[in-house]
Amino acid sequence: MNEKISSLKKEFPALKETFGGKRLVYLDSACTALKMKCAADEQRRHLLALGGCGGKRSFHSMAAAMEEEFYGARAKVAAFMGAGSPEEVVFTSGVTDAANLLANSFPFTAARNQVVLSPLEHNAVFLPFERLAAAGKIKLRVAPLKGLKPDPEALGRLIGKKTALVCLTHASNIFGGREELARAADLAHAAGAYLFTDDAQYAPTHGGCGALHGADACAFSGHKLGAPYGTGALYVKRELLARLRPWRVGGGTVEDVASCGGGFRVKYLGGYQGFEAGVQNYAGVAGLAAAIARLEKCGFGNIREHVCGLVGGALEGLAGVKGVKVLGKREDLLEGSLVSITAEKKGFSVPDFNLFLDHQLKGRFIAVRTGRHCADLACLSSGVRETIRLSYFAYNTHADTEAFLAALELYLSSL
Ligand SMILES: Cc1ncc(COP(=O)(O)O)c(C=O)c1O
Repeated sequence: MNEKISSLKKEFPALKETFGGKRLVYLDSACTALKMKCAADEQRRHLLALGGCGGKRSFHSMAAAMEEEFYGARAKVAAFMGAGSPEEVVFTSGVTDAANLLANSFPFTAARNQVVLSPLEHNAVFLPFERLAAAGKIKLRVAPLKGLKPDPEALGRLIGKKTALVCLTHASNIFGGREELARAADLAHAAGAYLFTDDAQYAPTHGGCGALHGADACAFSGHKLGAPYGTGALYVKRELLARLRPWRVGGGTVEDVASCGGGFRVKYLGGYQGFEAGVQNYAGVAGLAAAIARLEKCGFGNIREHVCGLVGGALEGLAGVKGVKVLGKREDLLEGSLVSITAEKKGFSVPDFNLFLDHQLKGRFIAVRTGRHCADLACLSSGVRETIRLSYFAYNTHADTEAFLAALELYLSSL
């Protein structure tokens, strides 16, 4: 293991924990990564040393210090995402929050009210738009799958002059791999539409987001890269941000409220400030910036290489196992951070196997994720009912995969 990766591994104390006397083998980072000590320490420092009023509400020295740190973290996150400026970053609690914000703030018009989704969208992105469609506010079009990837020709045919927004997950949380954004960005832009990418599964092991590859808006979740829960960000390019109508409103978002004709006239603040209503997660954001800085210190090139090696090792090991099928193609899977398999042998029950991994192994348990992974569109489009997903982050080793493979063989031999 690369020296920088082994040094980073020390940041994850949960790896040393036992649960009911059993050691943890964690292959569930696509759900959430284990958390980094440096990020938790930074969050704690912020809570205890600052922990006061921020957000330009109060004018005192502590509020100024809070605001300075908050803006510093915004600049860090902006650089990570590939934003042109910190002013293009809205802090959110994660991708779910970001997608709801975008869907409900987007300036749809009667002439441009169509949203085109890839079939790999997580429910976090699919459902906010599905709700708008069900309420008759937009038209939703979902591209079909071709070989477990969004069909590029069909996607091209769906994008037209009524398309306002195209949503493309950058890395699927169910089938793994990675999506090329350039063509979708070109198609969207040629039609006068915007491209949004979901970088929840991309950002942690590649570094960066869709903004670096032509997306007009993109989002990631901090908890999936070792930062505190409830952190994340939405990038929206300046020109589009100026066109969004703040969806969640409240304190900190208004420039002025005046009486007007028996009612009120509310003037919202421009830019990101119009979208960060209420007292913010200042300490969490400080932890997020610390987590990103630590991953950058390790180097995303090193993380990518390490994770690619783990995925390759899993594919090699699984190739020799009869009774399960690996979903997807090797070349593509190596570009991602997870491997999904389906059960093929008669009598193989995925829920039972999950229980087996959790309860039946000596001295350890193996945490994987089974089921539909909140990727209902992908399941509907592919006919895949459920998968067993092994997902990797920087702290995993080949020994984790070997433990899984041994458990899988043991379970299969019991059928
Ligand atoms: C691809 C993808 N998008 C969005 C989400 C939602 O992220 P969060 O729960 O952090 O909002 C997830 C979480 O699993 C995901 O895997």
